[in-house]
Amino acid sequence: MTHSPAHHSQSNFLQIFQDADHQIHDDSVEDPFPAYLDDIDTTLAPFCPTSAKRVLKALRMAHVGPHDWVIDLGSGDGRFVTAAVAEMNAAKAVGIESDTALVHTSKTLAKKVLPSLSSASLEDLETDRICFIEGDLLNLPSIVHPTPWTVIVLFLLPDHTDKFAHLLLHHYRRGARIVSLVFNLNEIPEMNLITSDEQDGIYVYGLANKL
Ligand SMILES: C[S@@+](CC[C@H](N)C(=O)[O-])C[C@H]1O[C@@H](n2cnc3c(N)ncnc32)[C@H](O)[C@@H]1O
Repeated sequence: MTHSPAHHSQSNFLQIFQDADHQIHDDSVEDPFPAYLDDIDTTLAPFCPTSAKRVLKALRMAHVGPHDWVIDLGSGDGRFVTAAVAEMNAAKAVGIESDTALVHTSKTLAKKVLPSLSSASLEDLETDRICFIEGDLLNLPSIVHPTPWTVIVLFLLPDHTDKFAHLLLHHYRRGARIVSLVFNLNEIPEMNLITSDEQDGIYVYGLANKL
């Protein structure tokens, strides 16, 4: 694939997703904890986006770069996925999200940040550099597990960490960095915390030599 980050992509990403942040704060959502959408359990975490600036900080702390394949488990409006490619020039970035509207928003915002994506479907994990998959994290498409992710992002309630421990450890042991937002992953003692920012709630795990 030939997409390269736009020269002004940093300002593009911040501008577009900071606008999205303001809009989210302006909308007074009646129920911020929608339990079930179309029979898919979203109680793993409500949609509570990481601010655009913290997205960039987390990706930089994890040293995301051109060799990385990034997946966001519960990708919300796609900000980590879009920033990974637009800002860090990641080779591939994929988001899994159960909320149909958020998947749609993700594609719209990604195309705004990276206009070169306009004609892309953003749906095919095998061919698209940026891809948003509507799906349930508890029933991941079979292609997700064996894909050689090098960075896994998650911002999910800690009660559910055990449901992902197997997936996280599989990739961690192969050398992937695991980036957890707001909640640490102390429940998985094998994982080594490489760097963290307690104030911003950013925890990066990886094998000792991986940063
Ligand atoms: C706290 S938000 C984080 C969004 C994004 N990763 C970020 O940091 O801005 C968690 C996201 O996980 C999604 N989610 C929750 N349960 C899910 C499930 N079972 N399958 C797929 N996505 C889910 C929610 O809809 C929400 O968008």
